[in-house]
Amino acid sequence: MNAREILKQMTLEEKAAFCSGRDFWHTKAVERLGVPSVMMCDGPHGLRKQEGEGDHLGINKSIETVCYPTAAALASSFDRDVMAQLGEALGKECQAENVGMLLGPGLNIKRSPLCGRNFEYFSEDPYLAGEMGAAYVQALQKEGIAACAKHFACNSQETRRMSGTSQVDERTLHEIYLPAFENVVKQGKTRSIMCAYNGINDVFCAENKTLLTDILREEWGYDGFVVTDWGAVKDRAKGVASGLDLEMPGGPNATGEDILKAVQEGTLSEEALDQAVLRLLRFVQETMEQRKPDTVIDREENRALARALAAECAVLMKNEGTLPLKDGQSVAFIGEFAEKPRYQGAGSSHINVPHPVSALEAASGVLYARGYDAHSDQTDAALLREAVEAAKKADIPVIFAGLPDAFETEGADRDHMRLPNNQNELIAAVSAVNPNTVVVLHGGSPVELPWLNQVSAVLCMYLGGEQVGASTVDLLFGKKNPSGRLAETWPLRLQDNPSYLNFPGEDGVVTYAEGIFVGYRYYDKKEMPVLFPFGHGLSYTQFEYSDFKLDQDKIQDTEKLKVTVTVKNAGPCPGKTAVQLYVRDVESTVRRPVRELKAFEKVSLQPGESKKVSFTLDKRAFAYWEPKCHDFFVESGAFVIEIGESSRDIRCEKAVQVEGTTLLSFPVTETTTIGQLLKHPKGKVIIGQMMSSSAMSHVDQTDSMGEGSERMMQQMMLDIPLGALVSYGRLTPEKLKALIETLNA
Ligand code: BGC
Repeated sequence: MNAREILKQMTLEEKAAFCSGRDFWHTKAVERLGVPSVMMCDGPHGLRKQEGEGDHLGINKSIETVCYPTAAALASSFDRDVMAQLGEALGKECQAENVGMLLGPGLNIKRSPLCGRNFEYFSEDPYLAGEMGAAYVQALQKEGIAACAKHFACNSQETRRMSGTSQVDERTLHEIYLPAFENVVKQGKTRSIMCAYNGINDVFCAENKTLLTDILREEWGYDGFVVTDWGAVKDRAKGVASGLDLEMPGGPNATGEDILKAVQEGTLSEEALDQAVLRLLRFVQETMEQRKPDTVIDREENRALARALAAECAVLMKNEGTLPLKDGQSVAFIGEFAEKPRYQGAGSSHINVPHPVSALEAASGVLYARGYDAHSDQTDAALLREAVEAAKKADIPVIFAGLPDAFETEGADRDHMRLPNNQNELIAAVSAVNPNTVVVLHGGSPVELPWLNQVSAVLCMYLGGEQVGASTVDLLFGKKNPSGRLAETWPLRLQDNPSYLNFPGEDGVVTYAEGIFVGYRYYDKKEMPVLFPFGHGLSYTQFEYSDFKLDQDKIQDTEKLKVTVTVKNAGPCPGKTAVQLYVRDVESTVRRPVRELKAFEKVSLQPGESKKVSFTLDKRAFAYWEPKCHDFFVESGAFVIEIGESSRDIRCEKAVQVEGTTLLSFPVTETTTIGQLLKHPKGKVIIGQMMSSSAMSHVDQTDSMGEGSERMMQQMMLDIPLGALVSYGRLTPEKLKALIETLNA
């Protein structure tokens, strides 16, 4: 029987009940119609399958399995292939464990470094997040496992996550907070979406028709199903009417009675319910069709993959030549994380790892001093003394530092951006006695680094998964060459972050007052110094760029622009770089970021080798969201295409003239200004005529007004509202009325 036939045979009661889960991790079966139950489990950087008591907070046990690098690390790889390898491995693990859907990837935008779940999210940049997400989803789903892109949307903090509301304007929503989801829908073809707990502009995501139907299904053409975040349901029937399909977790109370009642009372149409049931039935059927029960996985192979991937994600933030470590150097590992690595965060993504590998275990012949107590903020004088002694004895002290476990969890945000005092004091003391000090950082989010100028090198491993210790050793000793690039800006201090005054909001209301100026979009606009810019990352080799070409210097926004550049490994060892393409809008009447990432490609090169990299840009690369037409819109003018090694290390640039082929239509009133009318299809023509006639001639009389007067007059004229032309005697009230009618016709 196909899904439609099954639906026809289901009673109203069965349909209503089917829209809630059976328990924490399963959909309901409809045995009499042969519909089985499907299991879903948390990811996204491992399989958190619970066989005993279920919970969504990482409290109860889950099966022992492999923990891969977390999203914060993965995004730094700037490598779609890394995501694909992970998606494939996880897909196979799910098949072997009879799990039909993995709850990830997490696509929320990193608005503040304080969000407790930043380690589970990719980036402050929506394009990067969307590309990494889509690559993961495609690979996972190729193995027959449904992905579940979460948390849709504007869930960029943990404070009041279950009851708060994110107040965000239309342009910001479409330019910053939605595109990663859009890409995972359109390109990744995700089979499911998890709606966020919070509201957007006072409407909970679980019952937000604009979000779940108008945008997701009608604008983006999504045909999968929507599941709630665990416990996000407020008004169940309203949810179904808005486009929400499955409520999770289910359990004995989730009988569907509220849906049933709403249909019986006529407040919810049976058609809307049928749609939800049909989408769920299709999911169950596809899952059954794609089952591969004979899948066997090799955990050792997966551990090797976790080790290899962690190395691809690491970001070499600073290096004055100390790294890679040289043969014959004596090395001291200092800091508790060398022995007990931080490799994942707490909460629903927590993976049960039998044996995480530490750097101390992976390296041989290094000295070790514990340096600090990871459960305390206070310096322990004896540990500090011992560490300083080790640093004096060794050629190179390598300090393992970072955010302790308790700092990074689902359900709670941090309230500062500092490392614990004892770690900062340790690094200051050690680097004071040995200038060759190297710092290895663990953590899912930026931290302030007050000692940066005193140390010789910093290698950021983020939360790199269970093999992070082994990968760190591979990188420190030069067996691997770091190639990660920061997927987020590291500000100098928390106060510099654009959300600083509005995070986490008050009384459950958080206003995204910084608008589209999130991350580097803000720091670049304000020309602020930062600790490390977006896209930054060093290598043990160097890259050179040449032959940068645009295939045209003038295009219409309906055409595509082809960009090519040659990148060469000009250094001594094999390496990889992320070629980053940014677009800069030079002439704009609306506020735009200085530059925005619009394409990237990870390239692997042997010493002396060159490769040509090509990118194709379409309308979207030049457009901004225009609330007047509720769509992406290109304003004609000059743009610059930039190729960089980071957002602040631009190596080549070339201008292109882009002509927008749509004009803005918007309602004209007496308060519409001359300037606004110049963007209106009919207004442009009429104003042109008026300007060439004498109607506006007074604005030309600038001779006697001194320097700069022409520009002032022009600006003043552009700001004149239509209505004022009557007061100035340029139009009669009747003529004004007729003009407005013509423009709106
Ligand atoms: C989290 C989700 C998770 C779900 C199930 C929720 O608390 O926000 O990310 O998938 O629990 O564990």
